[in-house]
Amino acid sequence: MMIITIDGPAGSGKGTLARRLAEDLGFYHLDTGLLYRAVGYAALERGVDLGNEDALVALAADVPLTQLNKTVLAGEVIGRAASDVAKMPRVRVALLDLQRRTAHRPPAGKQGCVLDGRDTGTIICPDAPVKFFLTACLHERASRRVAELTSTGQPADFDQIYQMLQARDAQDAGRSVAPLRKAADAHALDTTHLTVEEILFFAKTIVRDIMDPQRLDLCEGAA
Ligand code: C5P
Repeated sequence: MMIITIDGPAGSGKGTLARRLAEDLGFYHLDTGLLYRAVGYAALERGVDLGNEDALVALAADVPLTQLNKTVLAGEVIGRAASDVAKMPRVRVALLDLQRRTAHRPPAGKQGCVLDGRDTGTIICPDAPVKFFLTACLHERASRRVAELTSTGQPADFDQIYQMLQARDAQDAGRSVAPLRKAADAHALDTTHLTVEEILFFAKTIVRDIMDPQRLDLCEGAA
């Protein structure tokens, strides 16, 4: 099973790259951030204290992977709640199996899996043959988040998003379990000044070198 991991902070372009690579390669795309968002959202909805690890673990055990609504889960308030629940070691353990199982046995018809998140290359799939780590400056990432949210009709104030991303980055990179880190063998890319097509080109060039030659035709455009 071919596995590609893409990690990085919010707005670095990892989600878009993961989606586009998965589409082009016929792979399943697992957005691991959605799982933490689903737990954060369920906690907010049910009035569960974000510090109550036992209750959060119970919510994590029930995350309905195939029924997650990206638009509902997209906002920064839920992003913040996701980051709060994601620093709890037992919540992460509760979501680990689901992620590894999906990576190694994606839904029928899929030849592989592209995962994106914070720890997919370091903890979830440390043996993945292709890993990427994307970054971009905070200003650019905040601009992208604002554009993304407004495109789906959600309100977004630049200064507020900027500050919330900054706080979330600090919490995600500073936590004691599975902090945001580049895996030693990940290909790093600063996407600040790159278009989506340029990011895709970079990634496909690397994927092409590693993948089964029979599938190289799917990567055309990176020649
Ligand atoms: O990527 P996204 O912004 O949807 O992630 C929401 C939050 O979920 C992150 O800020 C992070 O705290 C957490 N997360 C994580 N590990 C992952 C993916 C997301 O801790 N693999």
